Amino acid sequence: MMMRMGSVMRKVVCLLAWLSVGQVSGSYLPQDMNRTLQDLLQHYKISKSDIYDGKQVFPKEELKGKMESQMLFMGGVLEAYEKLIVHMLKELPTPSPLSATSGDKADTSGPSTAKPLAAGNTRSNLNKVLEKIRDLKLHSYKEQVKILHELQKLKHIEMDNIKVQGKALWELPWIYEKANSLADNVMRRRRRRRRQTRTKSRLGA
Ligand SMILES: *[C@@H]1O[C@H](CO)[C@@H](O)[C@H](O)[C@H]1NC(C)=O
Repeated sequence: MMMRMGSVMRKVVCLLAWLSVGQVSGSYLPQDMNRTLQDLLQHYKISKSDIYDGKQVFPKEELKGKMESQMLFMGGVLEAYEKLIVHMLKELPTPSPLSATSGDKADTSGPSTAKPLAAGNTRSNLNKVLEKIRDLKLHSYKEQVKILHELQKLKHIEMDNIKVQGKALWELPWIYEKANSLADNVMRRRRRRRRQTRTKSRLGA
């Protein structure tokens, strides 16, 4: 029994390794999503000088540090994309005047090429991208998104509420202790890892 489980595990590991190798040489961007994006770019046309103005909407510097930090930042980026695409969908002219229920006039300040005829296509393309982003968020960034939502709550603490102030002071001893031990643990781990790499490189030399 144990033997069989071991061999199954080995097969799973082999399969995973094979999959990840395949992924490295290939691309994580599915063909159909790429096509959808190329199609959308025809409608959201901007000039070359705007594309290469050196200011990215989503800075890539944050995606170079520790994996955990990168994942957290990426969670925020996915959230922002989701919001952005929902906003872009709202800016599209309404599908047909008859089905317009809210009485809102179609936003004419949207992309100039979003003519009503093309808008249907753009809408379905935006919805496809939105679904991809939501899938990725839900499958791989659940923990990060949860932390981001907690962070947002921190911004809304009632600073001028005396009860909040008192409770916060009550909670501080534990928090202060935890904050220090956390930082200490991380520093120790980093030092240990550095020592290990140094030993390894010395052995390798
Ligand atoms: C996406 O499509 C464009 C245009 O067809 C192509 O140049 C690009 O290589 C494609 N990217 C991927 C990752 O498939």
